[in-house]
Amino acid sequence: MNTFIKDGIFVNMEEKIFERKDIRIENGIVTEIGNIEKRDNEQLIDAKGLHILPGLFDMHVHFREPGYEYKETIKTGSLAAAKGGFTGVLTMPNTKPVIDNVEILQKLNDIITKDSIVDIFPAVAVTIDQKGECLSKFESLKKAGAYALSDDGQPVMDEKVMEKSLALSKQINFPVLIHSEDKRFVNNGCINEGIVSKKLDVRGISPKAEYEMINRDVMLAEKLNTPIHMCHVSTKESVQIIRDAKKKGIKVTCEAAPHHFYADESMVLEKKSIAKVNPPLRTIEDVQEIIKGLQDGTIDAIATDHAPHSKEEKAKNLYDAPFGISGIELALPLTITKLMNNKIDIYQIIELMCINPRKILGLDDGLIKIGREASITLVDMEKTQLITEESLVSKGKNTPFIGETLQGIVEYTILREKVIYRR
Ligand code: DOR
Ligand code: ZN
Repeated sequence: MNTFIKDGIFVNMEEKIFERKDIRIENGIVTEIGNIEKRDNEQLIDAKGLHILPGLFDMHVHFREPGYEYKETIKTGSLAAAKGGFTGVLTMPNTKPVIDNVEILQKLNDIITKDSIVDIFPAVAVTIDQKGECLSKFESLKKAGAYALSDDGQPVMDEKVMEKSLALSKQINFPVLIHSEDKRFVNNGCINEGIVSKKLDVRGISPKAEYEMINRDVMLAEKLNTPIHMCHVSTKESVQIIRDAKKKGIKVTCEAAPHHFYADESMVLEKKSIAKVNPPLRTIEDVQEIIKGLQDGTIDAIATDHAPHSKEEKAKNLYDAPFGISGIELALPLTITKLMNNKIDIYQIIELMCINPRKILGLDDGLIKIGREASITLVDMEKTQLITEESLVSKGKNTPFIGETLQGIVEYTILREKVIYRR
């Protein structure tokens, strides 16, 4: 069935203007954008008052399959993505088993083909079983359909191993997404080290754990003249190091997660383990610097680090509960609510949530253009909603933002010939 999107507010990224447009999609391809007439055989989507955005892209999610299907599956993760306005995601390989060889990657790709309603681009592990020791077979994994390398969830502690992996990945143009965490400064902590960890009398994670490692890897990127990408930056020092590195021409990019610019460590006082995440929620000063980094382009992408866990797991105490926040459904409303009040406009949001993450992975910019596959998200930018647990389709209900009233509602997500989400 062909689709006709009528009278939406088209966000023109080239001229940075809004235009009232209709869009025709035939056999999954955008064939017309303009002020045009609907044909009889087309399904109508009334987009009056809705912004027409390119389908969003999340370059950092944990969909947990294979091995942890009780937390999330490819199917439920993809449903949650579509509800969040995302048409594409990159999945992290810290599953059971870890995606570190061609055989298991092919199995994952079979599940994706069968079950996903969004486009899923798998990342594979840098090191076997994410142990930080032996490198996986980069070239054959890339040939078999992997889009990036990452030991996310675990750092590559050994500098020699990291250097070797960057040198090899450079040769074959394989993006490396780095989880920066120096275990020596983690101290078996569970939340940010500071006022809140003192108040709750629990061990804290020093911000050094993150930024010392970023320092190390930025130096490696400079030495090897190769691009690196930093996952989930959370400290003010990290932002400053990356800002300085970019000024020097070092090819470093980075992402920030909505929870790191929307909330600070004080949220742990009320939400406890539900707000436990790695890297942890930091101080108000860190939040401000993350927002500054988003404003000035130091931070290239917003990525959710969608980390679903079960109720039972997240009901445990701060030490025993796993790290992670279920994030993909609320990313856009959290971003609109927080950032549009902080002088970040919709054009920048599209860069952060569509164009840049795709570019970092070597994909096209994802914009809506004639002749391209349709990848479109229709959003009511003004409407607000109270977030409830019942509204979440992810298996992971572990978000500290339940009870929050957020602005911006995804009304439709369209990928090729299908409406993959409709509110
Ligand atoms: O909070 C987190 N959860 N941080 C990570 O690095 C891993 C992730 C997970 O897999 O649950
Ligand atoms: Zn992650």
